[in-house]
Amino acid sequence: MKFDQPATRNPVDRLRIVGKPHDRIDGPLKTTGTAPYAYERHDVAANQAYGVIVGAAIAKGRIRRIATDAARSSPGVIAVVTHENAGKVGKAKAITAKLLAGPEVDHYHQAVAIVVANSFEQARAAAHLVEIDYERAEGRYDLEKEKSAAVKPKMEDPADTAVGDFDGAFASAAVKIDQTYTTPDQSHAAMEPFATIASWQGDKLTVWTSNQMIAWAQRDLCEVLGLQKENVRVVSSYVGGGFGSKLWVRSDAVMAAVAARVAGRPVKVALARPQITNNTTHRPATIQRIRLGAGRDGKLTAIAHETWSGDLPGGQPETAAMQTRSLYAGANRMTAHRLATLDLPEGNAMRAPGEAPGLMALEIAMDELAEALKMDPVELRIVNDTQVDPEKPERPFSQRDLVGCMRTGAQRFGWERRVATPAQVRDGRWLVGMGMASAFRGNLTMNSAARAAIDGKGIVTISTDMTDIGTGSYTVIAQTAAELLGVPLEQVRVRLGDSDFPVSAGSGGQWGGNSATAGVYAACMKLREAIARKAGLMAGDARFEGGRIVSGSRNMSLAEVAGRAGLTAEDGIEFGDLTKKFAQGTFGAHFAEVGVDADTGEVRVRRMSGAFAAGRILNPKTARSQVIGAMTMGLGAALMEEAVVDARHGYFVNHDLAEYHVPVHADVPLQDVFFMDEVDDKSSPMKAKGVGELGLCGSAAAIANAVYNATGVRIRDYPLTLEKIL
Ligand code: MOS
Repeated sequence: MKFDQPATRNPVDRLRIVGKPHDRIDGPLKTTGTAPYAYERHDVAANQAYGVIVGAAIAKGRIRRIATDAARSSPGVIAVVTHENAGKVGKAKAITAKLLAGPEVDHYHQAVAIVVANSFEQARAAAHLVEIDYERAEGRYDLEKEKSAAVKPKMEDPADTAVGDFDGAFASAAVKIDQTYTTPDQSHAAMEPFATIASWQGDKLTVWTSNQMIAWAQRDLCEVLGLQKENVRVVSSYVGGGFGSKLWVRSDAVMAAVAARVAGRPVKVALARPQITNNTTHRPATIQRIRLGAGRDGKLTAIAHETWSGDLPGGQPETAAMQTRSLYAGANRMTAHRLATLDLPEGNAMRAPGEAPGLMALEIAMDELAEALKMDPVELRIVNDTQVDPEKPERPFSQRDLVGCMRTGAQRFGWERRVATPAQVRDGRWLVGMGMASAFRGNLTMNSAARAAIDGKGIVTISTDMTDIGTGSYTVIAQTAAELLGVPLEQVRVRLGDSDFPVSAGSGGQWGGNSATAGVYAACMKLREAIARKAGLMAGDARFEGGRIVSGSRNMSLAEVAGRAGLTAEDGIEFGDLTKKFAQGTFGAHFAEVGVDADTGEVRVRRMSGAFAAGRILNPKTARSQVIGAMTMGLGAALMEEAVVDARHGYFVNHDLAEYHVPVHADVPLQDVFFMDEVDDKSSPMKAKGVGELGLCGSAAAIANAVYNATGVRIRDYPLTLEKIL
């Protein structure tokens, strides 16, 4: 089904099931520990052996010699696999890092060997017996130091943009800000580690793994291992958090596959928590210079955002200036991305790549500008709203209610009680402050296909390779099918995460919910036609309700029409160029209240509140869960998260959850989430948009601005730990 015209009225608009806060249909499986995650698939292959990966102990250099004899003769050991006996292990174009080292080592904890044994304990014990002689080389680990050697990177979007005369406008601006902000490396810290079971049946490989993008995983495994697509099956039914870290396969999948081939048995591998940070991927640190010039009325006349980040050779920049191209009006503007080479582990997408760190900087800069203008920060955002893409004024936003979010959010939060002068409000030992920031994240759409079937009992089954990374895909897909076919939710079965199913959008870039349900919409519309045809009716005239198809005086049960053989339809949504004609975004306003201990500098977030405009909300309960999870991640980004670089040895020092701090329940206050009543006919037939990443975009800056309001101390280097406040 092509989607190249705005959606008209369609059966989803009835909103009998879509748009309702249904509990997750996979909730009982998860809360009872019976949802099978990859590592727990004891059922899928007999005789599973255990693999433990050995990571490189240097960040850059060569392996001179690997001695594996001691490991091989250790009890229970079946195989030790290194680059010397792994067979061909190539590099996938889409993945920056090589997933098996040797003889070159490109980053710390890059996989150099896997030890396979009958038990996990035997494999782990033997892994310690692998002796590796390294030749260490000089590496580049310090972004600040490498910044001057950074280059303009090749990116999908242009690295740089410029409109009007920034320099002239900035020089003559009545009020200006010129500041540099930094954000640290961050780790995704998903609950479920990277884990895979690999099994060969002759030439055919099956991996049960934890992955967000099944078709990409299949493609990349083919490329790395030199296999044909029809010989690789990827299954990822449940994913215990990805946040972008599982957009691409990592060493657990590749090493399990290689090890299973050498061992002649299925092999299961999970990365130990302390391996994840350095073996896999992280959000790269940024240095961002922002210049804002405005008239006394607060209207921006000049906007510049330059950002520097680093990655392994061949890698990509953190696109932190991207949102500055379209968030605020202003005639004279420029953005630039620069990329330095670093020999740290691969930097890549982490939830809201680009916008998350970009808004951490831009939205402090806006707060600084508001203060310089003596203007309310909410009003500053409102006067700089734009309904068209500021770099391409001929391109309007499909919908943009940033202003509505600002006004509604401010009112719900009680923003009018804020005292603009910093460090004026005291509650016992606590200095209390309020801050706010815009939320903004692009709305991407991705083609997505599904199969819809109905059997002789009226049970509907949806199959698609879409994944559920804890977001609620199972549930919103079931709601979509139930709505379109007019059957109760309990009559829908959803099967996800299998490369044998039609290729979906997958879970990434907050495109999954809208795109995947739009694909299910296409398949269900086709199934409606098949049902109507078999019943001798016209689908366009028929109503599907109560498990029946109704048209004029005809009224038949779907089960009866489907009959014993059942009916199946397959289709997908193909997005045309509506996204070229219309800028698509999701918007919001974040508000936060913090208390800062006047003696110790400890920051406690007391309240968080946000209003969001993100098209039709398919399920207010799962959507709210996404947003509060993201707001919590923003709290972590503001106050605690930092993967600390050891710039001598080139690795992240705090590589476990004891030392890499993320918020726990006691850190998270009352979170108020409000969704604007919005329907976007240009986003898809579902009229929905992404919401999974929006809540993270801007939330850290709202907290940073609240800390300033509480204390009068402006911190421009995240995270805002107490030694920076004192
Ligand atoms: Mo998201 S960082 O594209 O999973």
